[in-house]
Formats: sequence, C-alpha cells, structure tokens
Amino acid sequence: MANVHVMDHPLILHKLSLMRDSQTGVKEFREATREIAMLMCYEATRDLPLKTIQIETPLAHAKARVISGKKIAFVPILRAGLGMVDGMLELIPAAKVGHLGLYRDPETLQPVEYYCKLPVDIADRDVIVIDPMVATGGSAAAALQILKDKGVKNIKLMCLLSTPTGLEVVQKAHPDVDIFVAAIDEGLNEHGYIVPGLGDAGDRIFGTK
Ligand code: PRP
Ligand code: URA
Repeated sequence: MANVHVMDHPLILHKLSLMRDSQTGVKEFREATREIAMLMCYEATRDLPLKTIQIETPLAHAKARVISGKKIAFVPILRAGLGMVDGMLELIPAAKVGHLGLYRDPETLQPVEYYCKLPVDIADRDVIVIDPMVATGGSAAAALQILKDKGVKNIKLMCLLSTPTGLEVVQKAHPDVDIFVAAIDEGLNEHGYIVPGLGDAGDRIFGTK
C-alpha cells in the first residue's frame, strides 16, 4: 500500500484515544478532531513546492524560501468532515473550501450525493479531501471521483480512522491519490461501523445522538 501514510505521532495517537473513549463529550471530541486535523495537515503538506525569493532582513539581503505552486482547496465530506476544516485553516488560512454532501444509505451502505459546492477554480487547485472516517471506502472513493470529474488532477485524502478493506477500495479506484490516516482499525461491524473505531463521527461532533 505504497500511497498510504499512517500517522504514528504520539500527539495524534493520544488525541485519537480521547476521541475513541465513549465518555468523551462533544466539546472535547470536537477539539480533538480539530487538533488532529491540524497536526495531520502539517504532515500532508510536507511535499509542498518551495521557491526562493530575495528579501531584506533587518541586517542583510537574504534568499528566503516560500511556498510556490498551485493554490490549495480543502473539501470536507459533509457532515463529519466539517469538524476537520478549522484545524486545517489554522495552518493554511488562505485555502479555499468546497463542500461535498454525501450520506451513506444505512441499508446498502452506498454513498448518496446531496450537495456539491466547490470553488470555481477547483480544477486549478491541489485538493485535500477530508473525512474522519473511511469505513467501506465508498464515500471517499465517490468524493474523489466527483472531484476528478470536475478536472482536479492532484488530490490527497485525509482521514482519522480507516480499515484495511476501506483503504483497499479507495486505493484500487484511485491509485494516484495519497492517503493520510491516523490509524487503521481491525474492520467493520455488521452495520458498517469501524471497530473498535470511535462511533458515528458526525453524531459525536455535532451532538446529534
Ligand atoms: C460517515 C463518514 C463518512 C462515511 C464513511 O458519514 O463521515 O463520510 O460515513 O463510510 P463509508 O466509508 O462506508 O462510505 P455518514 O454517511 O454517517 O454521514 P454524516 O457525516 O452526515 O453523519
Ligand atoms: N461512519 C462513521 O461515522 N463511523 C463509522 O465507524 C463508520 C462510518
């Protein structure tokens, strides 16, 4: 699985354990989601291209390196992906944000699209798709296809939890997409939930259950 990057940073794993704990309340769950997203964004942008410019420090002329290349857009998959947006914007405040509404049919577990609002220049941007959970992989694979159909060339996927089969589904459909995941769990239960997982990410972020 060459394009899967598993985050093994102690801070990420510690915060993820907090999220897994069923005793963790909405406020702490939201904070941990935001903080892990920020830490993962740092890792996922490690390959951003740099260019050298000339600046004046208070003491001398100097060459300095700044980020160059295409502009970035974040695309959260609604709802749960929204919980990751603010943390990422703290690192890249000028990024544009597109919204992709997908819900998983509870019977078939197939993703259903209900909303799509993307920056007009999305095809010219590098895109990071964000969703805390990649379970069967259906929603993430569909989101990546929707963006490719709009002309996006360079896409990364960032999630907190996944499973070996979920990652395989995404990788098979989109071998060109780098995947950043905080942890890979054992598998799915009979309702398609990640085990041990953290429950329903959307419900825990928004307090709907
Ligand atoms: C969750 C999650 C993913 C999807 C993952 O969303 O946020 O989008 O399920 O499952 P999959 O990999 O099997 O497709 P959900 O459909 O529960 O919608 P919500 O965020 O609105 O609660
Ligand atoms: N969606 C979630 O929110 N949690 C899971 O475990 C699976 C899908």
